[in-house]
Amino acid sequence: MTMDELKRQAAARALDHVRDGMKLGLGTGSTAKHFVELLGEKVRAGLNVVGVPTSEATRADAERCGVPLSTLDELERLDLTVDGADEVDPQLNLIKGGGGALLREKIVAASSDRMIVIADDSKWVERLGRFPLPIEVIPFGLAATRRAITDAFAANGVSGGLDLRKGRDGHGFVTDGGHWIVDAHLGAIPDAAALARSLAAIPGVVEHGLFIRLATTVVLAGPTGIRSIERP
Ligand code: A5P
Repeated sequence: MTMDELKRQAAARALDHVRDGMKLGLGTGSTAKHFVELLGEKVRAGLNVVGVPTSEATRADAERCGVPLSTLDELERLDLTVDGADEVDPQLNLIKGGGGALLREKIVAASSDRMIVIADDSKWVERLGRFPLPIEVIPFGLAATRRAITDAFAANGVSGGLDLRKGRDGHGFVTDGGHWIVDAHLGAIPDAAALARSLAAIPGVVEHGLFIRLATTVVLAGPTGIRSIERP
């Protein structure tokens, strides 16, 4: 089975949790895209749901698939967000943002009663940090923000290079919010919750890709089947 088929299987399993009338957060990335497509099939068959997209890319996908959309200004609270992840640890803490949508993804997840993460099982890790940690930053004062990030790393016992992300065209990557992203190559993060707090306290950091205690369930698809894991 290909990686893409595994992602679609995980997305299909998450769809079992969707009920008529639900308000849904719609994630971003190649796995979440499968979910949006499968959800669109259900909507066309009569399912009544409304979605809040976590990126302009997902908005376009949802519109193409016929999923009705709303915003967090119109909806007070969402029932469920379904999104992918770059890494998932046994506490269901996550690294997200490989696709650059971490800010809206975190706002939407934090506005949801539940968050189901869908992924192929290569995303499961004992400890977060092998995947470069995306940190969304304000362009103004970038050098000062980078120094503050490096200091936060030292205070949390981690270190590693910080790369300013580039888009496919070779120019700086710009997020949907008009910010930049630096990717931190840390290797391993011993205390992700503590690092998350330190990064959140830096003025030039808009948001970071550590999602702590936001996921409630992860659906992992692998060659031997699908595992569903609840947050301990
Ligand atoms: C988008 O910003 C990310 O958080 C994605 O959810 C994450 O990168 C997973 O993407 P894939 O499903 O494409 O692996």
